[in-house]
Amino acid sequence: MKKILILGASGAIGKYLVDYFYEKKQEFNISLITGDIKECNFVEQRSDFFHLDVSKNGSFEQLPKDIYAVIDLATTMPARMVGYDPKQYIDINIGGTYNVLEFCKSNNIDRLLFAQTFGDILQHSEKDPLLKVDMIPIQDYSDNKSVYITTMNTSVELIKCYHAIFKMKTFLFRLPTIYNWDTNIYCENGEATTMAWRILVEQATKGEDIHVWGDPNRKKDMVYVKDLCQMFYKACFINRDWGFYNVGTGVGISLLDQIKGIIEVFKEENQSRILFSPEMRNAPQYIMCIDEAKEELGYEPLYNYIDMLKDMKKERDLNRF
Ligand SMILES: NC(=O)c1ccc[n+]([C@@H]2O[C@H](COP(=O)([O-])OP(=O)(O)OC[C@H]3O[C@@H](n4cnc5c(N)ncnc54)[C@H](O)[C@@H]3O)[C@@H](O)[C@H]2O)c1
Repeated sequence: MKKILILGASGAIGKYLVDYFYEKKQEFNISLITGDIKECNFVEQRSDFFHLDVSKNGSFEQLPKDIYAVIDLATTMPARMVGYDPKQYIDINIGGTYNVLEFCKSNNIDRLLFAQTFGDILQHSEKDPLLKVDMIPIQDYSDNKSVYITTMNTSVELIKCYHAIFKMKTFLFRLPTIYNWDTNIYCENGEATTMAWRILVEQATKGEDIHVWGDPNRKKDMVYVKDLCQMFYKACFINRDWGFYNVGTGVGISLLDQIKGIIEVFKEENQSRILFSPEMRNAPQYIMCIDEAKEELGYEPLYNYIDMLKDMKKERDLNRF
């Protein structure tokens, strides 16, 4: 039986990943160990849970040593930070990654999977929305996400060092916004707010007018958390030493089609009218090139945009996350 450790298991992605592995645990003979600084009943009911802080190396002593794979989601990001405390990025993202790497090295763990942000290359998308795995990172240093992105880039560089020096099997995933239905806090510029797409869902449910901001033709790759789980799962068992994968569907959905889809899936009694506000700011545009994930992992996204919305609606009604 292979033990898989998910760090950051109580988070938005973590809970879905725990659910995914839990459902497959008999079929694939795996046992699930989880860790987080935050308790979560959903996770504790489905795994052997350890309360831990990745930024403290002593936290790792309590964990079983015979772990096969570590999936590290225990980083912190601007979307979860009220106020602005860049030290948390240094301590948790860089310090935590170092502790995870040392834990993996000391216990001869077979492989490490890590979730990097696509913030490292997003700036390329204004020239060409297609984001490729091997693009050179560029950033807007004046953006308040730049310290976060820098710490994630540093973590990735550290992981590459451990892979090269200690021959640790390593799989890096570059994540754009991952769509999922949950109740986590969401922040912009250090203040709690509601995600734009959740506002659209609310408007569509109530049949209120919906304004399309900026250019309605800008496209975004809308990837569902359950497809990300599929990628992590495949990387746990693939016979390779190394992989660097963009996460996505490889397909762009225009802002107008995003809104039409939300109305189609979430409307109740009244149908929202679509109005255009070209004077408002543009949404980001990007399409993730997923060629490497298809070729090396055998990944095929299972959820197109409408299927994703329907499944999110189902999860909303089940209220599991
Ligand atoms: N969700 C996305 O759209 C997205 C996009 C790009 C990158 N990412 C990266 O993936 C990570 C996971 O995403 P998420 O949406 O699940 O984030 P999340 O914030 O919902 O989950 C992170 C989990 O890590 C835990 N954690 C934080 N600090 C910890 C510590 N010191 N010790 C142990 N656990 C700690 C948190 O309690 C939380 O449960 C993010 O932090 C981010 O860096 C996510």
